[in-house]
Amino acid sequence: MPEGSSPITTPEAALQYELAAFNVLRFDPALPGDDWRAQIDHQAEWLHREGDFLEERRAAVAARAAEAPTDADGFVAWFEALEQNGPGQHDPLFPWLANEATMDQMRWFLTQEVAGEAGFEDLSALTQVKLPQQAKLEIARNYWDEMGRGNPKGMHGPLLETLAHRLGLDPRPETTVWESLALANVMAGLAANRRYAYHSVGALGVIEQTAPARATLVAEGLKRLGVPSGDRHYFDLHAILDVKHSAAWNAEAIHPLVAANPAVASAIAEGALMRLECGAACFERYRRELGL
Ligand SMILES: [Fe+2]
Ligand SMILES: [Fe+2]
Repeated sequence: MPEGSSPITTPEAALQYELAAFNVLRFDPALPGDDWRAQIDHQAEWLHREGDFLEERRAAVAARAAEAPTDADGFVAWFEALEQNGPGQHDPLFPWLANEATMDQMRWFLTQEVAGEAGFEDLSALTQVKLPQQAKLEIARNYWDEMGRGNPKGMHGPLLETLAHRLGLDPRPETTVWESLALANVMAGLAANRRYAYHSVGALGVIEQTAPARATLVAEGLKRLGVPSGDRHYFDLHAILDVKHSAAWNAEAIHPLVAANPAVASAIAEGALMRLECGAACFERYRRELGL
């Protein structure tokens, strides 16, 4: 994006910047004030707008999601195949980042990714509320890994922040394309509203499943550009760890949830496809901005 130009050029872009602001308001710890009734009214208005946005995104993937089998084995096989045949999978952006991008281009890409990062640990914590034991335990194990198993140095969020800091990135809404904010807004909306609990299980699971291929190529690009291994650890780690996270999520969360209630299959499928479509839109926009 050219320096100094406003990223808000369409109603869709404006909506995503405002939804991002709503998510800050909704999730940030706060204190009670005299205006709490007005805050609830404001949030109710935004919950309606968010609902319209999420339903639009859901409608766009509903037909494909309806094709997913509803028996647990068949569903997991369908879900696993998304790694190859899902929207935006194996986008040419990533081999280019691995082999050709300059440091400035890599920095621009990472700035978008950092700004669009919704916080896997908080999304999974929100998603696990009142889920059956087996799925809940799997999400808990995943959460604990995100939290560095209790060691601040191993927490995943700060690992990404370290990279951003070392590369001098300055991720702000003004420097972020709206597609990247839309991705974070979809993830937050699915995790925050219980009617989308199963969508969120699908969206988070498909991140685990599709992250390793991308993380491997980004890590290669960072290595080629001379970024020290300690600084690029976030991507090296996810290239390996998310393979395990994905297998466990599919076996311990998705499989038993569908086995217990086949009606959740299409919801999990929709959530996964909604997340992948958001990623595909980001990659297309990134390629355009980077002149690919
Ligand atoms: Fe992670
Ligand atoms: Fe993971």
